[in-house]
Amino acid sequence: MAITIKTKDEIAKMRIAGRLAADVLHMIRPHVQPGITTGELDRICHDYIVNVQKAIPAPLNYRGFPKSICTSVNHQVCHGIPGERMLKAGDILNIDITVIKDDYHGDTSKMMFVGEPSVLARRVAQVAHDALCLGIEMVRPDIHLGDIGHAIQQHVEKNRCSVVREYCGHGIGRGFHEDPQVLHYGKPGTRERLVPGMTFTIEPMVNAGKRQVKLLKDGWTVVTRDRSLSAQWEHTMLVTDSGVEVLTQREGDGL
Ligand code: MF3
Ligand code: CO
Ligand code: CO
Repeated sequence: MAITIKTKDEIAKMRIAGRLAADVLHMIRPHVQPGITTGELDRICHDYIVNVQKAIPAPLNYRGFPKSICTSVNHQVCHGIPGERMLKAGDILNIDITVIKDDYHGDTSKMMFVGEPSVLARRVAQVAHDALCLGIEMVRPDIHLGDIGHAIQQHVEKNRCSVVREYCGHGIGRGFHEDPQVLHYGKPGTRERLVPGMTFTIEPMVNAGKRQVKLLKDGWTVVTRDRSLSAQWEHTMLVTDSGVEVLTQREGDGL
């Protein structure tokens, strides 16, 4: 599948979908407290997306995924399925939201702390956050995706963490996962060259230990093989004539 360059009209729709996805993360943050289950977080997000935003939670029934959001706790890397698990003080989790509005997708995720995190938990979340930010800052026409992957990998490894290789960022638009693949590792000057009108995600998964992962028997949940903590942050962005526009930006809501 070729990379699609979005028209002005499509970009306007992507801006709306992106804002809605960001708004869900902002809405759910105060609910992330000791004692709540990931299933309850899913229900609150589902109802908000469907009833308030009049949008569609993209994960629900996507290739058989059973819930409306992904919740990945502690050593879970990504695609955690919300359920009976009760959050407790000291847990860290990634909440990943993808909404469809007017046929276009907005995809974003962030780390949240339940109570006070350990020093290591805070550090892996910070490294993943900084890796995403430095990737975003590089986005402009004519650079290569390999330049971004390389910079992210360098930053993560310099901080004695590791980058997950099996999952990557992606083009996004009418499709949830479009071309190109956006790897979070690589070599400068390789892979696709950016062009204005491209929309894609960057979503580095950073492990505090080794990079190897495994898939649980539920067919979705990805965990670190060495059970080390993992962190991920994600934004959807547009390549503009002069640089980048982050379509899922949240005001005053960083790490
Ligand atoms: N939102 C994830 C991403 O960033 C994809 C989740 S697919 C699901 O690409 F089926 F697990 F929801
Ligand atoms: Co994504
Ligand atoms: Co996502």
